[in-house]
Amino acid sequence: MSILFEPVTVGNLELKNRFLRSATYYALSDMDGFIGRDSVDLIRRLAENEVGLIVTGYAYVLKSGQSYPDMNGIQDDDHIPAYQEMTRAVHDVDGRIVMQIAHCGSASETAAKTGGDYMAVSLVDKMPDYGRRPRVMTDADIEKIIAAFGQAAGRVQEAGFDGVQIHGAHGYLVSQFLSPLSNQRQDKWGGSLENRMRFLIEVFRSIKNQVGDNFPIMIKLGCKDYLKSGDGFSIEEGAQVATTLEHEGACLIEISHCNQDASSRKKNLLGITSEENEACFLPEARIVRQATSLPLSIVGGLRSPGVMEDIISSGVSDMISICRPLIREPDLIKRWNKGDRRPADCISCGKCFNLDDKGKMHIQCSQLKED
Ligand SMILES: Cc1cc2nc3c(=O)[nH]c(=O)nc-3n(C[C@H](O)[C@H](O)[C@H](O)COP(=O)(O)O)c2cc1C
Ligand code: SF4
Repeated sequence: MSILFEPVTVGNLELKNRFLRSATYYALSDMDGFIGRDSVDLIRRLAENEVGLIVTGYAYVLKSGQSYPDMNGIQDDDHIPAYQEMTRAVHDVDGRIVMQIAHCGSASETAAKTGGDYMAVSLVDKMPDYGRRPRVMTDADIEKIIAAFGQAAGRVQEAGFDGVQIHGAHGYLVSQFLSPLSNQRQDKWGGSLENRMRFLIEVFRSIKNQVGDNFPIMIKLGCKDYLKSGDGFSIEEGAQVATTLEHEGACLIEISHCNQDASSRKKNLLGITSEENEACFLPEARIVRQATSLPLSIVGGLRSPGVMEDIISSGVSDMISICRPLIREPDLIKRWNKGDRRPADCISCGKCFNLDDKGKMHIQCSQLKED
């Protein structure tokens, strides 16, 4: 049997194989973040198709942290019943699921465009342009967001999820605090690495306080800024954050990027059609591996079973995260388990975000199927 289909233990979770469906926004929620039957069906399908651990699309913990208008929300208790349906659907087929929770900070496009409370860690030259400048977060704002992460995680637990994942990557609020490019604060939240990671660590503690010691808390960590200039949050700093998270009691770190500019995105994540281009964050994962003994899951351009097996066998990562290949082929893991080892069909063109003529987003593969 391939090592990819050997079970693995993450915290107190026994997972049937090494595959993690990396968090994927699907544009299926309403304006207040409520999920419907289509979201439950989509997730059930992944569980039926043998994904070892499913991570939901990111869900905002406060309205001020909403980027897309149709992303998931977990900002109040009214959301719990619908998510209970989702977790039941997964558990009925013996799957495992965690929810990713987030605040998007200065990338909270919907908050900005609908007159919401639009905030940033600092005002810097490179800010998203949503027609409005954010205001700088006060101490009280930061404390409120930290508390909201904890309360959201309490709801995640009540809804029957098997764990919670903090979105600590991709330029959203945790990344905005970690990177010295977006965090130019002079108070206890900015400056030294200890100060820049304070927000993440306080979020972690707030969650732990709500859910207790036995509920798995994971993080998708942006371990490094990928910018043409080479500036920003370094992998050495990312590794130190990983060590600190281990001491705090995290149970899995998913390795991804912090801020990334368009040319780095192209280099890292687009046009992956040969094995040499796969696993774009492998060098960084090796450095994080030295810094922590926590289970790791590497994301970013993993497409071929052979490449994945080498990574797991070498001990660099315990799990393999994939996102776009499962948009194109939701039954990919089952296909590999049945012995069809052809690489994922996804060509990493990056065209899964499709707007219709009414301006509504649809997440779907825009490449034609051959069969
Ligand atoms: C349609 C789409 C939605 C995504 N939504 C999220 C999300 O909600 N949270 C997150 O952490 N990453 C999200 N990502 C990033 C993926 O989880 C993943 O990190 C990235 O696509 C690289 O992995 P891949 O090469 O296997 O696609 C999304 C990516 C895509 C294409
Ligand atoms: S559009 Fe299809 S082929 Fe292109 S990245 Fe998305 S899933 Fe892959």
